[in-house]
Amino acid sequence: MKTYVLRVWYVHVLVLCLNAAEDFQWTKNNPGSFYYGTFPTGFLWGVGSSAFQTEGAWDKDGKGPSIWDTFTHKKGKVFMNETADSSCEGYYKVKQDDIQLLKELKVNHYLLSISWPRIIPTGIKKEQVNEKGIKFYNDTINSLLENKIIPIVTLYHWDLPQVLQEKYGGWQNISMISYFNDYANLCFEKFGDRVKYWITFNNPWAIAEEGYETGEHAPGLKLSGVGAYKAAHHIIKTHAKVWHSYNKTWRSKQQGMVGISLTSAWGEPVDLTSQKDIEAAERYVQFYLGWFANPIYSGDYPEVMKNYVGRKSAQQGLGTSRLPSFSVQEKSYIKGTSDFLGISHFTTRYIIEKNYSAFQGPSYHTDRDLAELVDPKWPDPGSKWLYSVPWGFRRLLNFVKTQYGNPLIYITENGVSEKLQCIQLCDEWRMDYLKGYINELLKAINDGVNVKGYTVWSLLDKFEWNKGYSERFGLYHVDFKKGNKPRYPKASVQYYKMIINANGFPNPREVKSWHQKAIETCSITNQLLAADPLTSHMEMVTEIVVPTVFTLCILISAILLMFLLRKHN
Ligand SMILES: *[C@@H]1O[C@H](CO)[C@@H](O)[C@H](O)[C@H]1NC(C)=O
Ligand SMILES: *[C@@H]1O[C@H](CO)[C@@H](O)[C@H](O)[C@H]1NC(C)=O
Ligand SMILES: *[C@@H]1O[C@H](CO)[C@@H](O)[C@H](O)[C@H]1NC(C)=O
Ligand SMILES: *[C@@H]1O[C@H](CO)[C@@H](O)[C@H](O)[C@H]1NC(C)=O
Ligand SMILES: *[C@@H]1O[C@H](CO)[C@@H](O)[C@H](O)[C@H]1NC(C)=O
Repeated sequence: MKTYVLRVWYVHVLVLCLNAAEDFQWTKNNPGSFYYGTFPTGFLWGVGSSAFQTEGAWDKDGKGPSIWDTFTHKKGKVFMNETADSSCEGYYKVKQDDIQLLKELKVNHYLLSISWPRIIPTGIKKEQVNEKGIKFYNDTINSLLENKIIPIVTLYHWDLPQVLQEKYGGWQNISMISYFNDYANLCFEKFGDRVKYWITFNNPWAIAEEGYETGEHAPGLKLSGVGAYKAAHHIIKTHAKVWHSYNKTWRSKQQGMVGISLTSAWGEPVDLTSQKDIEAAERYVQFYLGWFANPIYSGDYPEVMKNYVGRKSAQQGLGTSRLPSFSVQEKSYIKGTSDFLGISHFTTRYIIEKNYSAFQGPSYHTDRDLAELVDPKWPDPGSKWLYSVPWGFRRLLNFVKTQYGNPLIYITENGVSEKLQCIQLCDEWRMDYLKGYINELLKAINDGVNVKGYTVWSLLDKFEWNKGYSERFGLYHVDFKKGNKPRYPKASVQYYKMIINANGFPNPREVKSWHQKAIETCSITNQLLAADPLTSHMEMVTEIVVPTVFTLCILISAILLMFLLRKHN
């Protein structure tokens, strides 16, 4: 009897301790100063890109149209009505030019995505498989491996085959699960002997929220308060299905990993001593990251999401919640379906509670009962939404660690854009951003967060969705006005190379010298670029002069010959 009580007491204390250890500390935020140190050996450094944003060749070699082709071809959807029809011409340039850039950067990995309609034009495998599309990705993967660069491959970076949108309503329709699963299995079959890191979905939050709630992204549906939840529900089930397919059919022979890549900003309570602010900030993160991560790691949507959407739906007179629910079987089927978690992160917001009346109509945004604020002192060099707040990265990663049982993490996107239309290769703000964010990542690893790799977003300037070419995330500048889309290194290329080479930030003296070194190289490239009109002018002249000189030589030779012959005579 006594031992029994003692054991219960012991278990109770143990649970309490575990709980205490697993709670995220909302009330403590001490960013501290810059930390000098290096990353664990074997840490992977890389850069990323995506198919639709870089490949171009939108209708070449048998590719079918995607929802993004259709969306961008409509006027009034994208900044300046720009399209990605040719973009960076990556379809023609990745194997030669871009892999050279990757080698120059000395990265360990390259994160790329496969365009579903390039290899299955209608999205339905039994209708048609496009061998030329398969060959394109096969060759790209082979070239990467020949150059000792690990491919990390995303299956879905937003370019759904247009036919599936038209026939079924895209992610609104449950039938996407089996079409996508067929596509994923085709990729495992064709490339899985060489690809060991698979990401099912990139940023499902944006797919759902911007594609089906606000309509700012393809397919441009404005199904406020309903469409995004439904799309997300189907995406989560699809992800789980694909993970199970891999586990059942491919894992034993291919020995790879299948994960998902989730994007989330960090939400910081405005007042760390206010319980209401803390709850609002947590809601912000749960509605962002937890929406997808909680089903995958804990089997269901976050409680707070179920409560809030459920309550608002009831107030709006609906019989059931606009947030769909998983059955018991589905919960256990979905739970645990990620071998690693991809985290994409760019920025932070301050959060306060703000109540919205249910009578304003259904909306994801008002379901959360919160307002987002920014500190005007935060640098915002690029996209309107992107403020540089490095400490938020460490906070988010610690939240992931405590909420989801310290999963294996790869950072799949982190970086900053610029909005300058003129060429600016000396991107000091990007060097500052990377330095700050990578340093906070290092601190997070020292906190015990299990991060094994980091990916800068992105290799090239590219088509930035509804922002067209106006926001540039690249380490390399791309001149989109020229037919062959030449690439030029920005200063951040040198800077990132030095971080990779040192595997972190070894000591103040060395780190201090990097900035100057990087700026020197960009000034030289800048001068070359400034001289560019001259070079093209000179090329033109050369074309005219060369034959002329050549003709002159013949003429002189002829005269000399005549002269000689005459003398001989
Ligand atoms: C884009 O297309 C719309 C609709 O045709 C037009 O009103 C608008 O002026 C266009 N914008 C530009 C920058 O060409
Ligand atoms: C893909 O590349 C591998 C390795 O070189 C080769 O064995 C395979 O036949 C290629 N498949 C296709 C469809 O080109
Ligand atoms: C899903 O697609 C099927 C077949 O086209 C259609 O009958 C059904 O109405 C669609 N469901 C939704 C929610 O759009
Ligand atoms: C994954 O596959 C292994 C080996 O076939 C199996 O033992 C395990 O139960 C599978 N996991 C799940 C969650 O189905
Ligand atoms: C929002 O509503 C809750 C519950 O009715 C209330 O406790 C809280 O004070 C309200 N917050 C604000 C900022 O009005």
